[in-house]
Amino acid sequence: MSPSLGSECRPLADSGVDLSLCRPLPPCDREYWSDTVDRVTRRKFLGQISGCGGMLVLSAAGGVGYMSAVEPRRLVLERVDVRVETLPSRLGGFRIVQLSDIHCGPDVRAQDIARAVSMSIDLEPDLVVLTGDYVYQSASYADACAGELAPLARATQALACLGNHDCRRGAVKVAGALTKAGIVVLRNEARCVRDGLWVGGLDDALVGWPNVNRVLRQVPSDATLLVLVHEPDYADVVAATGRVALQLSGHSHGGQVRIPLVGAPVLPILARKYPAGLYDLGQMRLYVNRGVGLTRPAIRFNCRPEVTLITLLSPE
Ligand SMILES: [Fe+2]
Repeated sequence: MSPSLGSECRPLADSGVDLSLCRPLPPCDREYWSDTVDRVTRRKFLGQISGCGGMLVLSAAGGVGYMSAVEPRRLVLERVDVRVETLPSRLGGFRIVQLSDIHCGPDVRAQDIARAVSMSIDLEPDLVVLTGDYVYQSASYADACAGELAPLARATQALACLGNHDCRRGAVKVAGALTKAGIVVLRNEARCVRDGLWVGGLDDALVGWPNVNRVLRQVPSDATLLVLVHEPDYADVVAATGRVALQLSGHSHGGQVRIPLVGAPVLPILARKYPAGLYDLGQMRLYVNRGVGLTRPAIRFNCRPEVTLITLLSPE
C-alpha cells in the first residue's frame, strides 16, 4: 500500500518547509513534463525559442542538424569540488561519478551509453551514482539500459534513484533491471559507502513517494549524508532537514537548449529554480547534472551532455 505523503510531510511542516514541494502534485501537473515537453514537436519548440530571438543564434551555430546530430553526442567531463564541513579528513578526496537521465530509447543509442560508462570507469571513482530517468517513454528499454550500465557495478559500488520517466512507465521493471545489473536502487533508503559516509536515495518527487525522514532515520546522526533525488527543486525540502551535506540531481537536462544571455526557454517542473550546475543552499550543496541522454525534441544547443566527477573535500 502506498504510504500517505501527508503524514510523511508532517515533521517538515514543523520546520516551516514549503509543503507545496512535498506533497503529490495534482494529475494535471504530474503530466506536465511528459505531456507538455515530450510531445512538443520540433517545430513548436523552435517556435517557442524564436520568441527569444534564439533562431538567429541557432542558425549561426549550424542549425538543426548540429543540434540534433552533433551536440547530443559531444559528451563532456565536468569536474566539481565540493567542500563538506562534516567530512572527516580521512575521507577528503573521495571521488564520485554522477550519471543522470540516460533516457535509453529511440534517440539514445547503446554506444552513447557505453561511452559515458567507459569515461566513468576510466576515472576510477570510489562510487558511481545514477540520478534517474533510465528509459524514455517505455520500461521496455530498461533491460537494454541496465545491460550497458552493468560494467559500472562491476568496477565499483553503484547506487541509483529513480526518475519520473521510470516511475511513470514501470518503476518495478526499471528497478529490477538495474538490480539485476548489480546497481543498488535506493527508494527512500540509505547505504553506508565508507565509514562515516552515507548515501540516501529518494523516490521520485513528481510521480513517486519521496520520504526524506525515512532516509534520515536509517543514518547515524554523526554521519555525513549525501542524497540522490531526481528533481533538483526538491532540494528546498531536503536542505530544510539540516542533515544533508550534498544533494545530487538531474531531470532538467540543463534545458537541452540554452540561448546565450537568455538561458533555457523550456525547463520541466521541479527543475526551474535549480536548472544546472552547483548551488549553495546554506548548509547543503546541490549539484544538477545535465544528463547523458535527452528527450524529444531530441536536440541540444549550448548544453552538452555530461559525466560529472565530484570530489569531496574535508574542511581545511
Ligand atoms: Fe530526464
